[in-house]
Amino acid sequence: MKTDVLVIGSGIAGLSFAIKVATAKPEASILVLTKSNNDVCNTAHAQGGIAVVLDKVRDSFEQHIEDTMKAGKGLSDPNVVKLVISQAPDRLNELINWGTSFDANELGELELGLEGGHSQKRIVHHRDLTGKEMETKLLQKAGSYSNIIFHDHYFVTDLLLKKDRSAISCTGVMAIDRQKDELVSISSGITFLATGGSGRIFQNTTNPSVATADGVAMAHRAGARISNMNFIQFHPTALYTKNKHSLFLISEAVRGFGAYMVDQTGNRFLFKYDLKGELATRDIVSEAIMNELQSSGEESVFLDCRHLDPEAFRSHFPTIVEHCLSKGINFEKDLIPIVPAAHYQCGGIQVDHFARTSVNNLYASGECAHTGLHGANRLASNSLLEALVFSHQAAGIVVKELDSIPAQELQEEKVYQLKQTGNKEIPKNFEKELNQIMTYNLLYTSEESEKKNAILKLRVLEENLKKLSGKIDPEFFELKNMIQTAILIVEQAIENRFFEKKECAIKPGNPKF
Ligand code: SIN
Repeated sequence: MKTDVLVIGSGIAGLSFAIKVATAKPEASILVLTKSNNDVCNTAHAQGGIAVVLDKVRDSFEQHIEDTMKAGKGLSDPNVVKLVISQAPDRLNELINWGTSFDANELGELELGLEGGHSQKRIVHHRDLTGKEMETKLLQKAGSYSNIIFHDHYFVTDLLLKKDRSAISCTGVMAIDRQKDELVSISSGITFLATGGSGRIFQNTTNPSVATADGVAMAHRAGARISNMNFIQFHPTALYTKNKHSLFLISEAVRGFGAYMVDQTGNRFLFKYDLKGELATRDIVSEAIMNELQSSGEESVFLDCRHLDPEAFRSHFPTIVEHCLSKGINFEKDLIPIVPAAHYQCGGIQVDHFARTSVNNLYASGECAHTGLHGANRLASNSLLEALVFSHQAAGIVVKELDSIPAQELQEEKVYQLKQTGNKEIPKNFEKELNQIMTYNLLYTSEESEKKNAILKLRVLEENLKKLSGKIDPEFFELKNMIQTAILIVEQAIENRFFEKKECAIKPGNPKF
């Protein structure tokens, strides 16, 4: 197979990029690969919304910039923060023009929600299903272009590279066609990674099962620069479910709507940690919960929504209400048990302002990329925005440069028939071991010696996985990607330990290419 533009991943980053290139260059062929169904991605799980300054009386770009810098503990790149926030109204209008609908008030004005770390109401949303609404409309829009082709159930295993003296260029990928059980090569002029995050590495996560760090791991193997992987954001309010790894998210917008966070005695403990209480940023709230749990020995703290207007709550959060009810929790009467869970990877494949990685013809956008926006901790509802802006930036340059990229000679097409692994228990056991190592405490409270010890354990896991040679199927590649990325995360946690303070002279993650 051969294509001008290859997009890996079908969330907001990949689809908005594909739509823009397809519009500007109807003659270019664009292939979108996804490893599952094309609507299975982190975007579809985003509940809260997208942060945009629309109320120019109370709010301003400057305030949104300040909130983002504060949440990122001073480690965000101010130029990137400005770039992203100033483009937000334009990117939002594009989404609306592509068919996305957002909640409006009786006057027809977009309704703005509040979330932790924001000094003003500025979250544009579609009830508690914002990501799903966006994903559905983006898929419809992308599907209307004859030059965008989707191949789902294609698992990309590695990037194809051309080395020319010191320069490395990406020329396509190897991918498993899961329906045929074949490994195939795909040549491309431009390769665009929009592969999402890495939540499944961790003991608890709000992410869907596809979040296995594939993009970061394959870019790393290709020699691309990867930065700030240790800054994994834990969302404070995942629904606590005993012995469960993947946890249902209770949106931050619920606290923005007025929910309290309490311990088992009903005490609102967050004010001990931050004057903003429930509206402190996620890192502060998660740390506070972990502290409380450690001293109380309890398994969860709680969200208390019993004082809120039940009708309004139901209409804003229908999915959350339904899900809680299905678990026997009625928000009008019961406290909702919650714990922090890995939610978002703030670091990733280092990119410049046009989403270019350090490998030629390889771009990255969305959660797999490190743009410099989030610093040490992402401000709520800035991620969909970041993906839109960097995909827009990339599309602008790809459209200009595509013609000058020498057409990739169709590398001799390779097709291999794959062996089935047979035993699906093996990957599950490896993943369990990985999850046991990769905890909140390892990243945020452990000593350097414990981190080094964790790296040793991860290397043993990697070696043991290698011994299962010949068993190449997507589950094994996912495990390899997760283990390699886990090593990067812990290594960068050791390297970046001096930079977590608020004011530091040298910042990690500045592009060096
Ligand atoms: C949420 O609704 O709390 C998640 C949205 C985000 O991660 O910004």
